[in-house]
Amino acid sequence: MPHLEISDLITVTDPRSGARLPVHRGEVVHRLREAGDRRAARIVAALPADRHDVLDPRAVDRLMIGVHTELQRLSEELRLGERLVHVLGPLFEAVRATVPGPLRLVDVGSGLGYVVRWLAAHGPLGPEVELVGVDLDAALVGEADRLARAEELDCRFVHGNAFDLPEAATVYVSTGVLHHFRGPDLAEFFRAQAASPALAFCHFDIAATRLAPVGAWVFHRTRMRHPLGRHDGVASARRAHTDETLLHAAAAPGMRPLLYEPRGLANPFCTTLRPIIGVRPELEAPLRRALGRAARRLVGPEQLVGAAR
Ligand SMILES: C[S@@+](CC[C@H](N)C(=O)[O-])C[C@H]1O[C@@H](n2cnc3c(N)ncnc32)[C@H](O)[C@@H]1O
Repeated sequence: MPHLEISDLITVTDPRSGARLPVHRGEVVHRLREAGDRRAARIVAALPADRHDVLDPRAVDRLMIGVHTELQRLSEELRLGERLVHVLGPLFEAVRATVPGPLRLVDVGSGLGYVVRWLAAHGPLGPEVELVGVDLDAALVGEADRLARAEELDCRFVHGNAFDLPEAATVYVSTGVLHHFRGPDLAEFFRAQAASPALAFCHFDIAATRLAPVGAWVFHRTRMRHPLGRHDGVASARRAHTDETLLHAAAAPGMRPLLYEPRGLANPFCTTLRPIIGVRPELEAPLRRALGRAARRLVGPEQLVGAAR
């Protein structure tokens, strides 16, 4: 049974123009039933639609902002910012040793912009790193921007597509986005960044351990109120890419793929977010030096078999 996420089906954006497209509730319900997911079909059937059965876009936007607000609380609880900086700090140290001048971090699929806003609020990467978030969902971009203004933070948010990136970066990052990209899209996502002038990418997603769906169920059940958030949280863990898939897809021309905390080195009792990293080859040695002892947790495709044992 394919695991579908409701949020992917109820918000559809034209990839070329960025325009919001109407979504027929009945078609989404049918697709979910066909996939054998009756619970998800019931959640969508209860959403408001007009007399032509088109989902009410304002209600969908409110729902998406509500669910992402709950997701932010979960990220706060999991201390996502600190976990990111554990790897991004050394990565930026390595980048700084290689290139002088201003740097730019672009968070792809930034949602409500929690990561970018946290980095802007705490400043762990230094003042000369410009912070930008990009997302396909215009309502989330608008809300991220509103929150950043209210918090008086030095960062910005842009409406755009991960496959046609509107913002150049020194380092591209993301959290919880990779599992949305399936089949050839996953390699294409990394290839587009490798073909840009970026020096590195560092994309965090759920580690595909056997316990990840159980951990996700417990966390989302206890922390999230809306059934859509609970449903998609568990579906995400079921859809998480394997270590092999990530290392294979991230092997884009001109980038050295490295996985931090592969399955064999991760604690299976935690649903951990860990990154797949791509660095220009000359950055690998400085990155390992900057990570210090933690560099033991970094593996390339050639070490994966040994690490996963
Ligand atoms: C699970 S949410 C994660 C949001 C945020 N990174 C976080 O950790 O809270 C996935 C995000 O990816 C965005 N997204 C999905 N496909 C995208 C694409 N092709 N380009 C840009 N953003 C995309 C969605 O709009 C959504 O905000």
